Amino acid sequence: MHLTIFGSGYVGLVTGACFAEAGNDVLCVDVDERKVEMLRRGESPIYEPGLEELLNRNLAAGRLNFTTDAAEGVRHGLFQFIAVGTPPDEDGSADLKYVLSVAESIGRHLSEYRVVVTKSTVPVGTADKVRARIDATLAERHAQIEFDVVSNPEFLKEGAAINDFMKPDRIVVGTDNPRTAELLKALYDPFTRNRDRMVVMDVRSSELTKYAANAMLATKISFMNELANLAERMGADIEKVRLGIGSDPRIGYHFIYPGCGYGGSCFPKDVQALARSAQEHAFEAKLLNAVEAVNLRQKSLLFDKLSRYFGGDLAGKTIALWGLAFKPNTDDMRAAPSRTLMEALWAAGAKVRAYDPVAMQEARRIYGERADLVLAKSAKEALSGADALAIVTEWQEFRSPDFDMIKSELGRPAVFDGRNLYDPAFVRRFGLKYYAIGRGD
Ligand code: UGA
Repeated sequence: MHLTIFGSGYVGLVTGACFAEAGNDVLCVDVDERKVEMLRRGESPIYEPGLEELLNRNLAAGRLNFTTDAAEGVRHGLFQFIAVGTPPDEDGSADLKYVLSVAESIGRHLSEYRVVVTKSTVPVGTADKVRARIDATLAERHAQIEFDVVSNPEFLKEGAAINDFMKPDRIVVGTDNPRTAELLKALYDPFTRNRDRMVVMDVRSSELTKYAANAMLATKISFMNELANLAERMGADIEKVRLGIGSDPRIGYHFIYPGCGYGGSCFPKDVQALARSAQEHAFEAKLLNAVEAVNLRQKSLLFDKLSRYFGGDLAGKTIALWGLAFKPNTDDMRAAPSRTLMEALWAAGAKVRAYDPVAMQEARRIYGERADLVLAKSAKEALSGADALAIVTEWQEFRSPDFDMIKSELGRPAVFDGRNLYDPAFVRRFGLKYYAIGRGD
């Protein structure tokens, strides 16, 4: 089948590469010429395990192409996927200007029937706006051409996106027209062979499903973080509590890991956007607001613990930081807890020696050269001359470190673990002070 994907960001690129891998003829359209050039050379602008390989294989096979030409895009695919960004507005609601500008391009160049698919995370009612924008543009041209608008949210996790796409738990399709459901079924068939994983519903329910999924997961995390803070005060160990409740299948083990807060480009943005949408419907989303507030507080927790440890005076101290990315297997630092911590440390006059297996370049891009940030070449080098260690991302290589080495490198041998990676009793045996989340300091 012929497909066009507008937007070669995270979602668009993974979607395009995976559809091409299944044998489709995919054309990706992006306004950024430099990015299109890079992609034509087979270089991925984002770090995602397995993506570059898919990109190169399908480029070579001629099934995956890149262009800046929207007209060519509209001509190419029966399916027109909209996968451009929906950055948060000043008030946290999703900004639809890129989505609607693609809708306008489609309206301008449409010459025969097309299925327009919104893949970006968009507020409920967006498909209607897309349809209205295409209609208005067609009216300007005095053209009458049939098209459908379908909502098909994505549920990819960064770092595992290819696998998530190739072996989806579910494919949600929101459409008010049975004909398009059949077309999408045929398109997704190679990914759902063993079981029918397609959940077809009306457009608005599908749009809300995407937010509901992320908001539910964010709620689980904030709930556990709240309990961790309670456990700390009550002399309980949240890790024991986690195992105790996870074994109940109604609760489950997934996404109940307490930590130093959730980050990334999705949870913070989507929880906020849903809460703002609620406001627009004159409804106060009390739980969503609390989920967000708990997370903001949680992202400051490591700093608060460090500050307490140093008697409120961090000026002139050096803190080693392990992990910059918002989670392992990505270089993404958007809304990462590491940023909250570093910025608070700098504001308090401390220096940071940071190490991350893949996000060093990203950190340099965000913060540039500054005297109070050393980007170390290894986990060990980050420790050198530091007063304490803070762990923010649970990369595999931090899971069983040489604690003797940590002790000898640190000025004040204290470890602040934002991801509960170790057994407290084990770490303390090395003569290290150990502060984790919800495990009683
Ligand atoms: C999330 C969802 O998991 C995907 O299903 C969804 O498609 C995606 O957003 C999206 O909307 O595009 P992602 O942001 O890549 O995916 O990352 P997650 O693996 O969900 O982690 C989010 C944050 O929660 C991380 O900072 C992680 O450290 C934190 N987290 C996760 C916890 O603190 N505790 C947990 O138990 C799980």
